[in-house]
Amino acid sequence: VDSQFLDSNQYTPQGISSYESIWGTGFVSPGGAQTAREFLAELDLGADALVLDVGCGLGGSAFLMATEFNFRVEGLDFSRNMLERARTRCTALGLDQKVLLQYGDALELSAEGRYDAVYSRDAFLHIASKQRLFRNLLWALRPGGTLLFTDYCCSPKPWSGGFRNYVESHHYSLHTLLEYEGLMREAGFVDIETRDLSEQFIRTLDEDLALLSQKESDETLVRAWRNKLSRARSGEQKWGFFKARKSP
Ligand SMILES: C[S@@+](CC[C@H](N)C(=O)[O-])C[C@H]1O[C@@H](n2cnc3c(N)ncnc32)[C@H](O)[C@@H]1O
Repeated sequence: VDSQFLDSNQYTPQGISSYESIWGTGFVSPGGAQTAREFLAELDLGADALVLDVGCGLGGSAFLMATEFNFRVEGLDFSRNMLERARTRCTALGLDQKVLLQYGDALELSAEGRYDAVYSRDAFLHIASKQRLFRNLLWALRPGGTLLFTDYCCSPKPWSGGFRNYVESHHYSLHTLLEYEGLMREAGFVDIETRDLSEQFIRTLDEDLALLSQKESDETLVRAWRNKLSRARSGEQKWGFFKARKSP
């Protein structure tokens, strides 16, 4: 979807704050910092490695990469609202030398063989042309480089009316884990590893709801979270983890 759509619908300043109030400062993805650390530990890169964070959002993962893993990071995001907050925090954290935050579309990368790894958390769902996306990411990686991402996925169609409405109203482009694996292979990735994290997703949402019920929470937010949980419990919404490499 286009940048304007992101900023005026799902990622308005208020929308962003709602996500952060649940997943923690800097995070718009399930499990927040703790989950990001677990995935980042799987990147297995040396200090000073250069990582592209596609759809970096508020920069939570990018800042962890810089402070806890000693990577250099280029964060890319297509929402101006996200980037504005991310940049303010980057400067406040004193990370401007290690983290570069850029506005742009993941479909328009321009540096061949630049990155040791491409990392992305729950951002590809916004991008319809997965073939072009994976071709671009492969091209941007150095030989032997790693792609690691998570994304909202789905069960094979047919879907319930409710799930179809949810996907269409957000302009999401969801895939099954198997479809994702095929798309990555078609693009030329090797050593592809996929994990269905749907159980972890359900546990996270359950914990979120327990916390929401302990504090004075906005009713709309609670309802949105309950709906998210019931989509996951029905098996229509899945959460996938993917890791692959560019041939050395
Ligand atoms: C659910 S948020 C996740 C943000 C961040 N990865 C995190 O874990 O907190 C998805 C992000 O993807 C970004 N995004 C969507 N389409 C994009 C595109 N074509 N290129 C770059 N970023 C995009 C959105 O603006 C948003 O910040």
